[in-house]
Amino acid sequence: MPVADVAVHLDPGSLAAQMAVDVRAGLTASPKTLPPKYFYDARGSELFDEITRLPEYYPTRTEWSILEARVGEIAAATGAHSLIELGSGTSEKTRLLLHALQDAGTLAAFVPFDVDPAVLAEASAQVADEFPGIEVAPVVGDFERHLSLLPGEPPRLMAFLGSTLGNLEPDHRSIFLRGVRSALGPDDAFLLGTDLVKAPERLVAAYDDAQGVTAAFNKNVLSVLNRDLGADLDPTAFEHVARWDPDREWMEMRLRSLRDQQVRVAALDLDVVLAEGEEVRTEVSAKFRREGISAELEAAGLRLTEWWTDPAGDFALSLSRPA
Ligand SMILES: C[S@@+](CC[C@H](N)C(=O)[O-])C[C@H]1O[C@@H](n2cnc3c(N)ncnc32)[C@H](O)[C@@H]1O
Repeated sequence: MPVADVAVHLDPGSLAAQMAVDVRAGLTASPKTLPPKYFYDARGSELFDEITRLPEYYPTRTEWSILEARVGEIAAATGAHSLIELGSGTSEKTRLLLHALQDAGTLAAFVPFDVDPAVLAEASAQVADEFPGIEVAPVVGDFERHLSLLPGEPPRLMAFLGSTLGNLEPDHRSIFLRGVRSALGPDDAFLLGTDLVKAPERLVAAYDDAQGVTAAFNKNVLSVLNRDLGADLDPTAFEHVARWDPDREWMEMRLRSLRDQQVRVAALDLDVVLAEGEEVRTEVSAKFRREGISAELEAAGLRLTEWWTDPAGDFALSLSRPA
């Protein structure tokens, strides 16, 4: 079946308008911040894909191993006709779910949903080739704004893998989870991948790899701002920082200014002063515990029904349902 027309809830114009609002708010705040969704242009998605294969980056292969062991149970428990994947990226791990649902004889449609149209187009074409019997209906959108617009025949399985949930701060997480709850029908289920709290040395290594791929990914947001907002940020004037916050139990990525500098963001008519050593926070990546995530799901009206981890307890997959 050919890939269906891409449903676009986030055209380049509205993405640029949203980016303008977010970047102005972030760069005029104290401390300065930038939202992680702007890492992901075509280059950012490529770099993230490289990160997933780094020796230090355990989450992808660990989540893969849990999925591999559990997809049969997931398919049997959900009987899903449609698989919706939020923040789908390359949808590589998702093949495991697609195969299991196809083998169970229930799968009719796959709806990958991502903010980056380039990665979405490539992944959709590959899945359509590999699974000719199912409808592939890609959606370009922002999972913080467009969850109510998702298609798919029930029962639907909504998957959110890669611990992308951890990139949302707690108040945004609770709004997001309530959005997921509202988008689910009574027979639908939510499959969530979450990275778990562990030794800080391993976490820091995973976000500051020896080859510098994560550093390049972090700095990619500067190129995105230069291209899309006419900024004049010099990537060589910043260094990548990865730090564990033990109180909030999250990793932070930051860009530290290597000198006193003034940068201009032409599209916003905004001049930003950065002192030497000043840091712009570009991503948080929360690490979870079972009690915490179960409580967050419950507060959103979702009931955790399954919790699977790898033997070392590094990563968890959970299945929940409308309460
Ligand atoms: C950490 S990567 C995970 C990719 C993939 N799901 C995995 O498990 O490897 C996050 C993905 O979510 C997408 N993304 C980030 N923020 C988004 C948003 N607000 N709305 C939709 N997609 C978003 C990115 O483009 C990227 O593909």
